[in-house]
Amino acid sequence: QKPIKVALLGCGTVGTEVVRLLTDQAADLTARVGAPVELAGIAVRKPNKHREVPAELLTTDVDGLVESDVDVVVEVVGGIEPARTWLLKALHGGKSVVTANKALLAEHSGELFQAADSTGADLYFEAAVAGAIPLLRPLRESLAGDRITRVMGIVNGTTNFILSGMDSTGASYSETLEEATRLGYAEADPTADVDGFDAASKAAILASLAFHSRVTAADVHREGIASVSAADIAAAKGLGRTVKLLAICERVTSAGGESISVRVHPAMIPRTHPLAGVNGAFNAVFVEADAAGEMMFYGRGAGGAPTASAVLGDLVAVARNRVVSGRGPRESAYAALPVRPMGQA
Ligand code: HSE
Repeated sequence: QKPIKVALLGCGTVGTEVVRLLTDQAADLTARVGAPVELAGIAVRKPNKHREVPAELLTTDVDGLVESDVDVVVEVVGGIEPARTWLLKALHGGKSVVTANKALLAEHSGELFQAADSTGADLYFEAAVAGAIPLLRPLRESLAGDRITRVMGIVNGTTNFILSGMDSTGASYSETLEEATRLGYAEADPTADVDGFDAASKAAILASLAFHSRVTAADVHREGIASVSAADIAAAKGLGRTVKLLAICERVTSAGGESISVRVHPAMIPRTHPLAGVNGAFNAVFVEADAAGEMMFYGRGAGGAPTASAVLGDLVAVARNRVVSGRGPRESAYAALPVRPMGQA
């Protein structure tokens, strides 16, 4: 069987793990896919900084690699441009795409899905939301015959580490943020996490898939955790509750018809709720669907190896589709439900 050729764009924490898993598990992957999965090239900015991967695969010519005879492009660079241009080029060229890029998906999913559907290529992005946790494919595929009514969860590990730390120690927000930074959970600039931008991008992706709609990060009502005080946490405790930063995506039916509400904000939840027991940097997402009822997905939402696990799972799926000349779910034909502005009755 002809090998499935893969271009890897980016070789940071996640990319390095992707290369390691592809190499260590080559024989198993060949058996699972039905053809060898071959790394054709790795695009990086500074090749001499990547001694942990085979030097002959490294290139700075991203366009050349994307336009070469590869079957799949895996993108772990992040950010909107130039990732958007590279991935559109790949999809228009009939190449399947696996990406971990939440910011890109939260802004441009419509355009990317259309490009994929125009050539019959696959677009998979499990690693973009909740890292290793299988969540997007269950929403897109396993629950495709059901009607999802709500997706609600903890999708940012940094803020969950801070809020659960404040809850267990009684310390202030700034002391706990300092500790999170010292331990490497929070970035040097934690704005995207603590102000809820990261969770808003993930909520937009979840709502788009759950409701077969088009929701962008700008549609998401967003409040971060910077104003949550030790007194708020203590008051919540007194009421048998705890504070979590939740991403909530809901289907709303009113006299005006059906719409969707998507928001990210700190919420007090009963300590008996399954999401209340999700502590530290873990993620968990609660899903409700008409026929399936309630489900919860729990696990590691960040980190090189967990994120690479999700990337590899997608890679196996798109490679299998190539082997059988098939493809994964179509998305561009779905009708969009309107997003409901906050505060509307
Ligand atoms: N900064 C993110 C988090 C990383 O804390 O969850 C994973 O997307």
